[in-house]
Amino acid sequence: MQIIFSSSEAAPFSKTGGLADVASSLPKALSQAGHQVALVTPFFPQERIKWPEGLPAPEVAGPPISIGIGTKTVSARVLQTTIPNSKVIVYLVDQPGYFDRAGIYQDGDRDYKDNCERFVFLSRATIEIARRFGWQPDIIHTNDWQTALVPALLKIECANDPAFQKTASVFTIHNLAFQGQFWHWDMHLTGLDWKYFNWRQMEFFGNLNLLKSAVVFSDMVTTVSPTYAREIQTPEFGCGLNGVLSSRRDDLVGILNGVDTEVWNPAIDGLIAAQYKAATVGEGKPACKTALQKRMKLPVRPEVPLLGMVSRMTGQKGCDIISECMPELMNLDLQMVFLGSGDPGYEQSLQKLARENSQKVAVQIGYNERLSHEIEAGSDIFLMPSQYEPCGLNQMYSLLYGTVPIVRAVGGLADSVVDASEENLANGTANGFSFYDYRSDVLLRQICRATGIFQDKATWRKLMQTGMQRDWSWRRSAREYEQVYQRAQGKRHAPAYG
Ligand code: ADP
Ligand code: GLC
Repeated sequence: MQIIFSSSEAAPFSKTGGLADVASSLPKALSQAGHQVALVTPFFPQERIKWPEGLPAPEVAGPPISIGIGTKTVSARVLQTTIPNSKVIVYLVDQPGYFDRAGIYQDGDRDYKDNCERFVFLSRATIEIARRFGWQPDIIHTNDWQTALVPALLKIECANDPAFQKTASVFTIHNLAFQGQFWHWDMHLTGLDWKYFNWRQMEFFGNLNLLKSAVVFSDMVTTVSPTYAREIQTPEFGCGLNGVLSSRRDDLVGILNGVDTEVWNPAIDGLIAAQYKAATVGEGKPACKTALQKRMKLPVRPEVPLLGMVSRMTGQKGCDIISECMPELMNLDLQMVFLGSGDPGYEQSLQKLARENSQKVAVQIGYNERLSHEIEAGSDIFLMPSQYEPCGLNQMYSLLYGTVPIVRAVGGLADSVVDASEENLANGTANGFSFYDYRSDVLLRQICRATGIFQDKATWRKLMQTGMQRDWSWRRSAREYEQVYQRAQGKRHAPAYG
Protein backbone atom coordinates (compact mmCIF):
# COMPACT_ATOMS: atom_id res chain seq x y z
CA MET A 1 0.00 0.00 0.00
CA GLN A 2 0.96 3.65 -0.39
CA ILE A 3 0.47 5.30 2.98
CA ILE A 4 0.83 8.97 3.91
CA PHE A 5 1.12 9.66 7.60
CA SER A 6 0.61 13.17 8.87
CA SER A 7 1.49 14.45 12.33
CA SER A 8 2.26 17.76 14.04
CA GLU A 9 5.36 16.29 15.71
CA ALA A 10 7.68 13.39 14.91
CA ALA A 11 10.86 12.17 16.62
CA PRO A 12 13.71 12.82 16.14
CA PHE A 13 12.76 16.07 14.37
CA SER A 14 10.40 17.44 17.04
CA LYS A 15 8.74 16.16 20.18
CA THR A 16 6.54 17.17 23.09
CA GLY A 17 5.20 13.72 23.96
CA GLY A 18 4.32 10.22 22.84
CA LEU A 19 2.70 11.31 19.58
CA ALA A 20 6.17 12.13 18.25
CA ASP A 21 7.41 8.62 19.07
CA VAL A 22 4.42 7.01 17.35
CA ALA A 23 4.74 9.26 14.30
CA SER A 24 8.17 7.89 13.52
CA SER A 25 7.92 4.33 14.83
CA LEU A 26 4.66 3.33 13.16
CA PRO A 27 5.63 4.55 9.67
CA LYS A 28 8.97 2.77 10.10
CA ALA A 29 7.26 -0.49 11.08
CA LEU A 30 4.81 -0.21 8.16
CA SER A 31 7.66 0.41 5.77
CA GLN A 32 9.52 -2.62 7.14
CA ALA A 33 6.36 -4.62 6.48
CA GLY A 34 6.71 -3.73 2.79
CA HIS A 35 4.52 -0.64 2.38
CA GLN A 36 5.56 2.59 0.71
CA VAL A 37 5.29 5.21 3.42
CA ALA A 38 5.75 8.98 3.66
CA LEU A 39 5.45 11.26 6.67
CA VAL A 40 4.36 14.90 6.47
CA THR A 41 5.27 17.05 9.47
CA PRO A 42 6.29 20.68 10.09
CA PHE A 43 9.89 21.83 10.12
CA PHE A 44 10.50 23.43 13.53
CA PRO A 45 13.93 25.05 13.34
CA GLN A 46 13.76 26.18 16.98
CA GLU A 47 12.62 22.89 18.47
CA ARG A 48 14.46 21.80 21.59
CA ILE A 49 15.51 18.58 19.92
CA LYS A 50 18.06 19.97 17.52
CA TRP A 51 18.62 18.50 14.09
CA PRO A 52 19.65 14.91 14.84
CA GLU A 53 23.40 14.37 14.78
CA GLY A 54 24.59 12.24 11.89
CA LEU A 55 21.41 12.79 9.87
CA PRO A 56 22.08 14.53 6.56
CA ALA A 57 20.55 18.02 6.33
CA PRO A 58 17.17 17.95 4.61
CA GLU A 59 17.09 19.03 0.99
CA VAL A 60 14.69 21.43 -0.62
CA ALA A 61 12.30 19.41 -2.77
CA GLY A 62 11.10 21.40 -5.76
CA PRO A 63 9.43 24.79 -5.82
CA PRO A 64 7.35 25.96 -2.85
CA ILE A 65 3.74 24.90 -2.38
CA SER A 66 1.01 27.54 -2.10
CA ILE A 67 -2.09 27.10 -0.03
CA GLY A 68 -5.21 29.21 0.41
CA ILE A 69 -6.01 29.93 4.05
CA GLY A 70 -9.05 32.14 4.58
CA THR A 71 -8.48 35.12 2.32
CA LYS A 72 -4.67 34.66 2.14
CA THR A 73 -2.40 32.50 0.07
CA VAL A 74 0.51 31.13 2.10
CA SER A 75 3.49 29.36 0.61
CA ALA A 76 6.00 26.96 2.16
CA ARG A 77 9.16 25.20 1.13
CA VAL A 78 9.10 21.43 1.30
CA LEU A 79 12.27 19.85 2.68
CA GLN A 80 12.89 16.17 2.15
CA THR A 81 14.74 13.63 4.26
CA THR A 82 14.11 10.16 5.71
CA ILE A 83 13.38 8.76 9.15
CA PRO A 84 16.76 7.49 10.43
CA ASN A 85 17.43 3.81 9.60
CA SER A 86 14.39 3.51 7.36
CA LYS A 87 13.02 4.04 3.88
CA VAL A 88 10.25 6.34 5.11
CA ILE A 89 10.33 9.61 3.17
CA VAL A 90 9.80 12.67 5.35
CA TYR A 91 8.35 15.86 3.89
CA LEU A 92 9.06 18.72 6.29
CA VAL A 93 6.78 21.71 5.79
CA ASP A 94 9.00 24.76 6.15
CA GLN A 95 6.77 27.76 6.83
CA PRO A 96 8.75 30.00 9.24
CA GLY A 97 5.78 32.32 9.89
CA TYR A 98 3.88 29.41 11.41
CA PHE A 99 6.57 27.07 12.68
CA ASP A 100 9.76 28.97 13.52
CA ARG A 101 8.71 29.70 17.09
CA ALA A 102 9.90 28.93 20.61
CA GLY A 103 7.45 26.06 21.15
CA ILE A 104 5.38 23.75 19.00
CA TYR A 105 1.91 24.65 20.29
CA GLN A 106 2.54 27.20 22.99
CA ASP A 107 4.64 30.10 24.08
CA GLY A 108 5.30 29.27 27.74
CA ASP A 109 1.94 27.94 28.86
CA ARG A 110 -0.24 29.92 26.45
CA ASP A 111 -1.50 28.41 23.20
CA TYR A 112 -0.56 30.39 20.11
CA LYS A 113 -3.53 32.49 19.03
CA ASP A 114 -3.28 31.32 15.42
CA ASN A 115 -3.14 27.57 16.16
CA CYS A 116 -6.24 26.92 14.08
CA GLU A 117 -4.67 28.64 11.07
CA ARG A 118 -1.28 26.92 11.58
CA PHE A 119 -2.70 23.44 11.63
CA VAL A 120 -5.37 23.94 8.98
CA PHE A 121 -2.33 24.87 6.91
CA LEU A 122 -0.58 21.61 7.86
CA SER A 123 -3.69 19.59 6.96
CA ARG A 124 -3.97 21.27 3.57
CA ALA A 125 -0.20 20.93 3.04
CA THR A 126 -0.52 17.16 3.57
CA ILE A 127 -2.92 16.90 0.65
CA GLU A 128 -0.94 19.29 -1.52
CA ILE A 129 2.31 17.40 -0.91
CA ALA A 130 0.70 14.08 -1.81
CA ARG A 131 -0.40 15.63 -5.11
CA ARG A 132 2.86 17.44 -5.82
CA PHE A 133 5.08 14.40 -5.30
CA GLY A 134 2.95 12.06 -7.39
CA TRP A 135 1.52 9.92 -4.60
CA GLN A 136 -1.71 8.04 -5.14
CA PRO A 137 -2.16 7.01 -1.53
CA ASP A 138 -4.31 4.07 -0.49
CA ILE A 139 -4.39 5.54 3.00
CA ILE A 140 -3.90 8.97 4.52
CA HIS A 141 -3.44 8.44 8.24
CA THR A 142 -3.84 11.56 10.38
CA ASN A 143 -3.37 12.07 14.11
CA ASP A 144 -5.02 14.24 16.76
CA TRP A 145 -6.70 17.60 16.13
CA GLN A 146 -3.71 19.18 14.39
CA THR A 147 -4.17 17.10 11.23
CA ALA A 148 -7.87 16.41 11.77
CA LEU A 149 -9.13 18.49 8.86
CA VAL A 150 -7.69 16.07 6.29
CA PRO A 151 -10.55 13.50 6.32
CA ALA A 152 -13.13 16.25 5.68
CA LEU A 153 -11.00 17.70 2.86
CA LEU A 154 -10.70 14.27 1.27
CA LYS A 155 -14.45 13.57 1.37
CA ILE A 156 -15.56 17.07 0.42
CA GLU A 157 -12.92 18.53 -1.89
CA CYS A 158 -10.96 15.58 -3.25
CA ALA A 159 -13.79 13.22 -4.23
CA ASN A 160 -13.10 13.73 -7.93
CA ASP A 161 -9.37 14.37 -7.77
CA PRO A 162 -7.49 11.66 -9.73
CA ALA A 163 -4.69 11.58 -7.12
CA PHE A 164 -7.10 10.43 -4.42
CA GLN A 165 -9.30 7.94 -6.23
CA LYS A 166 -7.93 5.07 -4.14
CA THR A 167 -7.59 7.00 -0.90
CA ALA A 168 -9.28 6.07 2.37
CA SER A 169 -8.72 8.04 5.56
CA VAL A 170 -7.80 6.78 9.02
CA PHE A 171 -7.77 9.07 12.03
CA THR A 172 -6.06 8.23 15.33
CA ILE A 173 -6.96 9.83 18.65
CA HIS A 174 -3.91 10.06 20.91
CA ASN A 175 -5.50 12.33 23.48
CA LEU A 176 -9.17 13.28 23.44
CA ALA A 177 -8.64 16.10 25.91
CA PHE A 178 -7.19 18.24 23.11
CA GLN A 179 -9.80 18.72 20.40
CA GLY A 180 -8.79 21.80 18.45
CA GLN A 181 -11.80 23.88 19.44
CA PHE A 182 -11.89 27.40 18.08
CA TRP A 183 -14.48 30.16 17.83
CA HIS A 184 -16.94 29.77 15.00
CA TRP A 185 -15.40 32.47 12.77
CA ASP A 186 -12.34 30.23 12.31
CA MET A 187 -14.60 28.07 10.12
CA HIS A 188 -13.65 30.39 7.25
CA LEU A 189 -9.98 29.33 7.67
CA THR A 190 -10.92 25.75 6.78
CA GLY A 191 -12.07 26.84 3.33
CA LEU A 192 -15.10 24.56 3.65
CA ASP A 193 -18.70 25.61 3.14
CA TRP A 194 -20.55 26.90 6.22
CA LYS A 195 -23.15 24.19 5.64
CA TYR A 196 -20.74 21.76 7.35
CA PHE A 197 -20.82 23.89 10.48
CA ASN A 198 -23.69 21.96 12.01
CA TRP A 199 -24.03 19.84 15.15
CA ARG A 200 -23.65 16.55 13.31
CA GLN A 201 -20.36 17.50 11.64
CA MET A 202 -17.95 20.32 12.53
CA GLU A 203 -19.78 22.36 15.17
CA PHE A 204 -19.66 21.64 18.89
CA PHE A 205 -21.51 23.92 21.33
CA GLY A 206 -21.14 26.89 19.02
CA ASN A 207 -17.43 26.32 18.32
CA LEU A 208 -15.51 24.79 15.47
CA ASN A 209 -14.23 21.37 16.61
CA LEU A 210 -11.55 19.89 14.37
CA LEU A 211 -11.23 16.56 16.19
CA LYS A 212 -14.98 16.00 15.97
CA SER A 213 -14.87 16.61 12.22
CA ALA A 214 -12.26 13.89 11.83
CA VAL A 215 -14.36 11.45 13.85
CA VAL A 216 -17.25 12.21 11.52
CA PHE A 217 -15.46 12.31 8.17
CA SER A 218 -12.78 9.60 8.38
CA ASP A 219 -13.39 6.10 7.08
CA MET A 220 -11.99 4.46 10.21
CA VAL A 221 -11.16 5.92 13.62
CA THR A 222 -8.58 4.40 15.92
CA THR A 223 -7.20 5.19 19.31
CA VAL A 224 -4.09 3.99 21.07
CA SER A 225 -5.38 1.21 23.32
CA PRO A 226 -8.42 -1.10 23.43
CA THR A 227 -9.40 0.12 26.91
CA TYR A 228 -9.26 3.80 25.90
CA ALA A 229 -11.43 2.96 22.88
CA ARG A 230 -14.12 1.77 25.31
CA GLU A 231 -13.53 4.53 27.86
CA ILE A 232 -13.98 7.41 25.40
CA GLN A 233 -17.50 6.24 24.69
CA THR A 234 -18.44 7.01 28.31
CA PRO A 235 -19.22 10.42 29.86
CA GLU A 236 -16.33 10.04 32.34
CA PHE A 237 -13.61 9.86 29.68
CA GLY A 238 -15.43 11.11 26.57
CA CYS A 239 -14.67 14.85 27.00
CA GLY A 240 -18.11 15.64 25.61
CA LEU A 241 -17.61 13.61 22.44
CA ASN A 242 -18.69 10.25 23.87
CA GLY A 243 -21.98 10.43 21.91
CA VAL A 244 -20.27 11.05 18.56
CA LEU A 245 -17.71 8.35 19.30
CA SER A 246 -20.35 5.82 20.30
CA SER A 247 -22.22 6.48 17.11
CA ARG A 248 -19.07 5.33 15.27
CA ARG A 249 -18.41 2.37 17.55
CA ASP A 250 -18.39 -0.11 14.65
CA ASP A 251 -15.54 1.81 12.99
CA LEU A 252 -13.61 2.62 16.17
CA VAL A 253 -10.65 0.36 17.00
CA GLY A 254 -8.14 0.50 19.87
CA ILE A 255 -4.59 -0.54 19.00
CA LEU A 256 -1.93 -0.49 21.69
CA ASN A 257 1.19 1.45 20.67
CA GLY A 258 4.49 -0.36 20.48
CA VAL A 259 8.04 0.49 21.43
CA ASP A 260 10.85 1.37 19.03
CA THR A 261 13.27 -1.27 20.22
CA GLU A 262 16.15 0.30 18.33
CA VAL A 263 15.87 3.24 20.74
CA TRP A 264 14.45 1.60 23.88
CA ASN A 265 16.27 -1.65 24.46
CA PRO A 266 18.49 -2.23 27.52
CA ALA A 267 20.56 -4.80 25.61
CA ILE A 268 21.90 -2.17 23.17
CA ASP A 269 21.14 1.18 24.82
CA GLY A 270 24.28 3.31 24.58
CA LEU A 271 22.91 5.97 26.96
CA ILE A 272 22.96 3.76 30.06
CA ALA A 273 25.78 2.65 32.36
CA ALA A 274 25.52 -1.10 31.61
CA GLN A 275 23.63 -3.07 28.99
CA TYR A 276 21.55 -6.02 30.12
CA LYS A 277 18.89 -8.54 29.11
CA ALA A 278 16.25 -10.42 31.10
CA ALA A 279 18.83 -13.05 32.00
CA THR A 280 21.39 -10.48 33.19
CA VAL A 281 19.08 -7.90 34.80
CA GLY A 282 20.43 -9.00 38.20
CA GLU A 283 23.84 -7.51 37.29
CA GLY A 284 22.86 -4.77 34.82
CA LYS A 285 20.26 -2.98 36.88
CA PRO A 286 22.40 -2.54 40.01
CA ALA A 287 25.12 -0.96 37.86
CA CYS A 288 22.60 1.42 36.28
CA LYS A 289 21.09 2.16 39.69
CA THR A 290 24.43 3.14 41.19
CA ALA A 291 25.13 5.37 38.19
CA LEU A 292 21.74 7.05 38.55
CA GLN A 293 22.15 7.59 42.30
CA LYS A 294 25.55 9.20 41.67
CA ARG A 295 24.28 11.29 38.78
CA MET A 296 21.35 12.60 40.86
CA LYS A 297 23.53 13.09 43.99
CA LEU A 298 21.57 10.60 46.06
CA PRO A 299 23.33 8.29 48.54
CA VAL A 300 24.52 5.14 46.75
CA ARG A 301 22.43 2.51 48.51
CA PRO A 302 21.74 -0.66 46.53
CA GLU A 303 19.21 -2.01 49.03
CA VAL A 304 16.82 0.96 49.08
CA PRO A 305 13.95 0.92 46.53
CA LEU A 306 14.42 3.67 43.95
CA LEU A 307 11.26 5.05 42.34
CA GLY A 308 11.50 6.93 39.04
CA MET A 309 9.16 9.12 37.04
CA VAL A 310 9.60 10.73 33.62
CA SER A 311 6.60 12.72 32.57
CA ARG A 312 4.88 15.87 31.54
CA MET A 313 3.99 17.31 34.94
CA THR A 314 0.27 17.80 34.53
CA GLY A 315 -2.96 16.70 36.14
CA GLN A 316 -3.30 13.94 33.51
CA LYS A 317 -0.22 12.20 34.85
CA GLY A 318 -1.41 11.94 38.46
CA CYS A 319 0.83 14.70 39.85
CA ASP A 320 -1.85 15.81 42.32
CA ILE A 321 -2.17 12.44 44.08
CA ILE A 322 1.60 12.05 44.09
CA SER A 323 2.01 15.47 45.78
CA GLU A 324 -0.66 14.56 48.32
CA CYS A 325 1.11 11.42 49.51
CA MET A 326 4.62 12.91 49.53
CA PRO A 327 4.64 13.74 53.29
CA GLU A 328 3.93 10.06 54.14
CA LEU A 329 6.41 8.83 51.54
CA MET A 330 9.14 10.89 53.16
CA ASN A 331 8.75 8.74 56.29
CA LEU A 332 9.62 5.58 54.34
CA ASP A 333 13.06 4.28 53.45
CA LEU A 334 13.04 4.91 49.71
CA GLN A 335 14.49 7.21 47.06
CA MET A 336 12.70 9.06 44.27
CA VAL A 337 13.91 10.61 41.01
CA PHE A 338 11.72 12.90 38.92
CA LEU A 339 12.32 14.23 35.42
CA GLY A 340 9.80 16.41 33.64
CA SER A 341 8.28 19.78 33.11
CA GLY A 342 4.82 21.27 32.91
CA ASP A 343 2.59 22.89 35.48
CA PRO A 344 4.78 25.39 37.45
CA GLY A 345 2.92 24.51 40.69
CA TYR A 346 3.98 20.85 40.49
CA GLU A 347 7.50 21.75 39.39
CA GLN A 348 8.02 24.08 42.34
CA SER A 349 6.56 21.78 44.98
CA LEU A 350 8.80 18.90 43.81
CA GLN A 351 11.86 21.14 43.81
CA LYS A 352 11.06 22.28 47.34
CA LEU A 353 10.61 18.68 48.45
CA ALA A 354 14.00 17.77 46.95
CA ARG A 355 15.67 20.67 48.78
CA GLU A 356 14.17 19.56 52.08
CA ASN A 357 14.83 15.82 51.55
CA SER A 358 18.05 15.77 49.57
CA GLN A 359 18.88 12.22 50.75
CA LYS A 360 15.63 10.90 49.31
CA VAL A 361 14.37 13.01 46.43
CA ALA A 362 16.11 14.32 43.31
CA VAL A 363 14.35 16.39 40.67
CA GLN A 364 15.37 17.61 37.27
CA ILE A 365 13.01 20.04 35.59
CA GLY A 366 13.21 20.09 31.81
CA TYR A 367 13.50 17.73 28.91
CA ASN A 368 16.43 15.33 28.82
CA GLU A 369 16.53 12.32 26.52
CA ARG A 370 19.65 10.78 28.07
CA LEU A 371 18.43 11.12 31.65
CA SER A 372 15.10 9.58 30.67
CA HIS A 373 16.99 6.44 29.59
CA GLU A 374 19.11 6.50 32.76
CA ILE A 375 15.99 6.69 34.92
CA GLU A 376 14.29 3.84 33.06
CA ALA A 377 17.37 1.67 33.51
CA GLY A 378 18.42 2.73 37.01
CA SER A 379 15.10 2.76 38.88
CA ASP A 380 13.50 -0.26 40.52
CA ILE A 381 9.95 1.05 40.30
CA PHE A 382 8.30 3.42 37.81
CA LEU A 383 5.43 5.70 38.87
CA MET A 384 2.59 6.35 36.43
CA PRO A 385 -0.65 6.87 38.36
CA SER A 386 -2.38 8.74 35.51
CA GLN A 387 -5.86 10.14 35.81
CA TYR A 388 -6.39 8.97 32.25
CA GLU A 389 -3.85 7.50 29.81
CA PRO A 390 -4.77 6.85 26.17
CA CYS A 391 -1.79 4.52 25.82
CA GLY A 392 1.30 5.66 27.66
CA LEU A 393 4.74 4.70 26.45
CA ASN A 394 6.80 5.04 29.60
CA GLN A 395 5.19 2.08 31.34
CA MET A 396 6.18 -0.06 28.34
CA TYR A 397 9.73 1.30 28.35
CA SER A 398 9.81 0.50 32.08
CA LEU A 399 8.63 -3.06 31.55
CA LEU A 400 11.32 -3.59 28.92
CA TYR A 401 13.98 -2.22 31.30
CA GLY A 402 12.90 -4.41 34.23
CA THR A 403 11.59 -1.36 36.10
CA VAL A 404 8.37 -2.49 37.70
CA PRO A 405 5.56 0.02 37.07
CA ILE A 406 2.90 1.23 39.51
CA VAL A 407 -0.02 2.46 37.43
CA ARG A 408 -3.64 3.39 37.57
CA ALA A 409 -5.59 0.77 35.61
CA VAL A 410 -6.91 3.04 32.85
CA GLY A 411 -6.40 3.15 29.07
CA GLY A 412 -3.16 1.64 27.83
CA LEU A 413 -1.89 1.22 31.38
CA ALA A 414 -4.68 -1.30 32.00
CA ASP A 415 -3.77 -3.05 28.75
CA SER A 416 -0.07 -3.43 29.48
CA VAL A 417 0.38 -3.80 33.24
CA VAL A 418 -0.75 -6.96 35.03
CA ASP A 419 -1.13 -6.46 38.77
CA ALA A 420 0.96 -8.55 41.17
CA SER A 421 -2.09 -10.14 42.78
CA GLU A 422 -1.58 -13.52 44.38
CA GLU A 423 -3.30 -15.20 41.46
CA ASN A 424 -1.22 -13.38 38.81
CA LEU A 425 1.98 -14.01 40.73
CA ALA A 426 1.11 -17.69 40.90
CA ASN A 427 0.31 -18.03 37.20
CA GLY A 428 3.37 -16.00 36.16
CA THR A 429 1.58 -13.13 34.38
CA ALA A 430 2.22 -10.36 36.94
CA ASN A 431 4.54 -7.57 35.77
CA GLY A 432 3.59 -4.56 37.93
CA PHE A 433 1.14 -2.96 40.33
CA SER A 434 -2.17 -1.41 39.42
CA PHE A 435 -5.10 0.21 41.18
CA TYR A 436 -8.25 1.96 40.08
CA ASP A 437 -9.48 4.48 42.69
CA TYR A 438 -7.84 7.77 41.90
CA ARG A 439 -6.88 8.63 45.49
CA SER A 440 -3.57 9.42 47.18
CA ASP A 441 -4.15 6.91 50.03
CA VAL A 442 -4.69 4.16 47.45
CA LEU A 443 -1.51 5.15 45.61
CA LEU A 444 0.39 5.18 48.89
CA ARG A 445 -0.81 1.66 49.68
CA GLN A 446 0.42 0.47 46.29
CA ILE A 447 3.84 2.03 46.83
CA CYS A 448 4.08 0.30 50.21
CA ARG A 449 2.97 -2.96 48.63
CA ALA A 450 5.61 -2.65 45.91
CA THR A 451 8.45 -1.69 48.25
CA GLY A 452 7.43 -4.65 50.46
CA ILE A 453 7.62 -7.15 47.60
CA PHE A 454 10.88 -5.50 46.47
CA GLN A 455 12.54 -7.07 49.53
CA ASP A 456 11.56 -10.55 48.30
CA LYS A 457 14.33 -10.88 45.72
CA ALA A 458 13.03 -13.99 43.92
CA THR A 459 9.51 -12.62 43.43
CA TRP A 460 10.89 -9.28 42.33
CA ARG A 461 13.18 -10.85 39.77
CA LYS A 462 10.24 -12.78 38.34
CA LEU A 463 8.21 -9.54 38.05
CA MET A 464 11.07 -7.82 36.22
CA GLN A 465 11.65 -10.71 33.86
CA THR A 466 7.98 -11.16 32.99
CA GLY A 467 7.79 -7.51 31.87
CA MET A 468 11.04 -7.76 29.90
CA GLN A 469 10.02 -10.84 27.98
CA ARG A 470 6.75 -9.73 26.38
CA ASP A 471 6.71 -8.55 22.76
CA TRP A 472 6.24 -4.76 22.93
CA SER A 473 7.48 -4.18 19.37
CA TRP A 474 5.73 -2.12 16.71
CA ARG A 475 5.54 -5.17 14.42
CA ARG A 476 2.55 -6.41 16.41
CA SER A 477 0.73 -3.05 16.31
CA ALA A 478 1.58 -2.46 12.65
CA ARG A 479 -0.19 -5.71 11.74
CA GLU A 480 -3.33 -4.43 13.45
CA TYR A 481 -3.10 -1.12 11.58
CA GLU A 482 -2.87 -3.05 8.30
CA GLN A 483 -6.22 -4.63 9.12
CA VAL A 484 -7.72 -1.23 9.88
CA TYR A 485 -6.41 0.08 6.56
CA GLN A 486 -8.11 -2.83 4.74
CA ARG A 487 -11.36 -2.04 6.49
CA ALA A 488 -11.02 1.66 5.67
CA GLN A 489 -10.53 0.76 2.00
CA GLY A 490 -13.83 -1.10 2.11
CA LYS A 491 -15.59 2.01 3.39
CA ARG A 492 -14.11 4.76 1.29
CA HIS A 493 -17.10 5.07 -1.03
CA ALA A 494 -19.48 5.47 1.86
CA PRO A 495 -20.90 8.98 2.22
CA ALA A 496 -19.53 11.15 5.02
CA TYR A 497 -20.83 9.79 8.25
CA GLY A 498 -22.55 12.85 9.75
P1 ADP B 1 2.39 11.70 26.76
O1 ADP B 1 2.48 11.62 25.28
O2 ADP B 1 0.98 11.78 27.25
O3 ADP B 1 3.25 12.76 27.35
P2 ADP B 1 3.64 9.05 26.73
O4 ADP B 1 4.00 8.13 27.83
O5 ADP B 1 2.87 8.49 25.61
O6 ADP B 1 2.92 10.31 27.37
O7 ADP B 1 4.95 9.62 26.05
C1 ADP B 1 5.83 10.48 26.67
C2 ADP B 1 7.13 10.49 25.90
O8 ADP B 1 7.84 11.69 26.18
C3 ADP B 1 8.05 9.36 26.27
O9 ADP B 1 8.86 9.03 25.17
C4 ADP B 1 8.88 9.99 27.40
O10 ADP B 1 10.10 9.33 27.61
C5 ADP B 1 9.06 11.37 26.88
N1 ADP B 1 9.26 12.39 27.91
C6 ADP B 1 8.31 13.03 28.65
N2 ADP B 1 8.88 13.95 29.45
C7 ADP B 1 10.21 13.89 29.22
C8 ADP B 1 11.35 14.59 29.73
N3 ADP B 1 11.21 15.54 30.65
N4 ADP B 1 12.56 14.29 29.26
C9 ADP B 1 12.71 13.32 28.32
N5 ADP B 1 11.68 12.63 27.80
C10 ADP B 1 10.46 12.90 28.23
C1 GLC C 1 -0.81 10.96 23.96
C2 GLC C 1 -1.27 10.21 25.20
C3 GLC C 1 -0.39 9.04 25.55
C4 GLC C 1 -0.04 8.23 24.30
C5 GLC C 1 0.57 9.13 23.25
C6 GLC C 1 0.94 8.39 21.97
O1 GLC C 1 0.16 11.90 24.25
O2 GLC C 1 -1.38 11.08 26.31
O3 GLC C 1 -1.06 8.20 26.47
O4 GLC C 1 0.87 7.21 24.63
O5 GLC C 1 -0.36 10.13 22.90
O6 GLC C 1 -0.14 7.72 21.39
